[in-house]
Amino acid sequence: MKIIVDLKERSYPILIERKALYHIQDVIDTNRKIAIICDDFIPDTWIEIVKSQCPNSMVFKFPQGENSKCIQQFQYLLEQCIQFQMTRKDAIIAIGGGVTGDLAGFVAASYMRGIDFYNIPTTILSQVDSSVGGKVAIDMGSYKNIVGAFYQPKGVLIDPDVLSTLSIRQQHNGLVEALKMGLILDEKLVEAFEQDVLDLEYIISRSIDLKRIIVEQDEKESHLRKILNFGHTIGHAIESAYGLDTYYHGECVAMGMLFFIKDKDLKQRVLKIYESLSLPVVPDYDVDVLMNCIVHDKKSSEKTVSIISIEKAGQYKIEEMSYNLIRDILERGPYEK
Ligand SMILES: NC(=O)c1ccc[n+]([C@@H]2O[C@H](COP(=O)([O-])OP(=O)(O)OC[C@H]3O[C@@H](n4cnc5c(N)ncnc54)[C@H](O)[C@@H]3O)[C@@H](O)[C@H]2O)c1
Ligand SMILES: [Zn+2]
Repeated sequence: MKIIVDLKERSYPILIERKALYHIQDVIDTNRKIAIICDDFIPDTWIEIVKSQCPNSMVFKFPQGENSKCIQQFQYLLEQCIQFQMTRKDAIIAIGGGVTGDLAGFVAASYMRGIDFYNIPTTILSQVDSSVGGKVAIDMGSYKNIVGAFYQPKGVLIDPDVLSTLSIRQQHNGLVEALKMGLILDEKLVEAFEQDVLDLEYIISRSIDLKRIIVEQDEKESHLRKILNFGHTIGHAIESAYGLDTYYHGECVAMGMLFFIKDKDLKQRVLKIYESLSLPVVPDYDVDVLMNCIVHDKKSSEKTVSIISIEKAGQYKIEEMSYNLIRDILERGPYEK
């Protein structure tokens, strides 16, 4: 299946296909120097398959984990591109999760003011979410994604088979972002999570298509694209307060979404889905600590936060909420009936 993201001169294809990894030329022009960027945890098998199809390529690895989305790794990778004597006609391929895509994408956006960037996402999270839409960034200290760019890839290649080596916890973590898409925009996608056996290819392709529709209308997040932040305000706060060693990003988003699902029946359905994905329950948090994180995360002095809430499956609402109201919601808790 091929989906085209229509952004005029920045349009690009997303190929979703089992074994797509074995014919990357369908999407990538490999007849030039290619820097293959990946972390040091993703299995070599996947890297080797890609490298074997790029005759003039080098692999640059960085340590796995969010901490590598930093200025030091950014600098290191740029230095590797210079040493490899890459020109403006050459390209970067990211193969890995969202950390790799965000970091390598920002290197591609910056090197010689921008060279071609291809993304081969290998986690569910990066397949359904971060590989589409062109947001690339690094963190600065505790400020996530504070330095970056909107830089669309030239192509995205998704091979669901690479998920065979991904841990179940990471798979479920990524599925939360797909469920998020369903809750905001498409009840049928929510229903896909209620089946005994999950149809991963359907879930991945439908989530991507929904993201495509949003990004095409609002490439630079000036309005509509905000809805993708559903669950992220409190989710990010839990992530900062407890750290990624305790809960993964998607797990935090799952917790964050619960606070803003207004329909009681829907909340029960969602809780059942969480159970089937073995997602952690919301911990006994300290409201002050989470509020501090929320204010810090805003990176601005605005008095309100745009909050996405769900009225019914597939129907969202954008509300400007004061910090006081968010505090009330945190005090009431996520499981309030
Ligand atoms: N750009 C965007 O629009 C956007 C959207 C959502 C999230 N993000 C970013 O994405 C990042 C999180 O992405 P993530 O959850 O993919 O984390 P990640 O990139 O750290 O990957 C998670 C782990 O899985 C390993 N891994 C990846 N593919 C594997 C495979 N096929 N088999 C075995 N192991 C594999 C990685 O080595 C890593 O240890 C965050 O930095 C977040 O800010 C960006
Ligand atoms: Zn997210």
